[in-house]
Amino acid sequence: MIDHLIGEHRKVEGLLAQLKDSDEGSDRNAMFEELASSLDTHMRVEERYIYPMISDLIGQDEASDATDEHELARDGLASARTRLEEGAFEAAIEILEAGIAHHVEEEEQELFPQLRVKAADQLDGMDPERLEAHVEEHGAAIDLTKEELYDLAKQQGIEGRSKMTKDELAGAVGRS
Ligand SMILES: [Fe+2]
Ligand SMILES: [Fe+2]
Repeated sequence: MIDHLIGEHRKVEGLLAQLKDSDEGSDRNAMFEELASSLDTHMRVEERYIYPMISDLIGQDEASDATDEHELARDGLASARTRLEEGAFEAAIEILEAGIAHHVEEEEQELFPQLRVKAADQLDGMDPERLEAHVEEHGAAIDLTKEELYDLAKQQGIEGRSKMTKDELAGAVGRS
């Protein structure tokens, strides 16, 4: 499972490098969509299946920092998307790349090595392709608990969040 996630990190880094060198047009757009969907699935699998183990076995702070870094990556993807047709696209990709590099280093140097020791049996029983199919089939809202969605709503300053249902929160924070 961990080797699979690390392999995806290399794939994402490769796509980012190619995107920086790309010219405007349909090839760039297709490559960007490939990056966005690979990253989306990767992050959702980690948030749903891997980070709860990090929270239990390593520490809640480590898990919540990693989740925050995913939010930064989502923001970075969104701002790069708005610049697909502009000169600043390359700069937007470089910012995203730097954030991802920091996060990937954290996972590969700090978090994953500890998990390999502390959760060896659980990880052995995981089938990455089955987990990916599961998060792709269900909406993004299943990835987060109501409390996590509420925290996101709070960070985003969404009004009326305390009266919202889980689905309403998911919609308000763009995760439905
Ligand atoms: Fe990762
Ligand atoms: Fe991650």
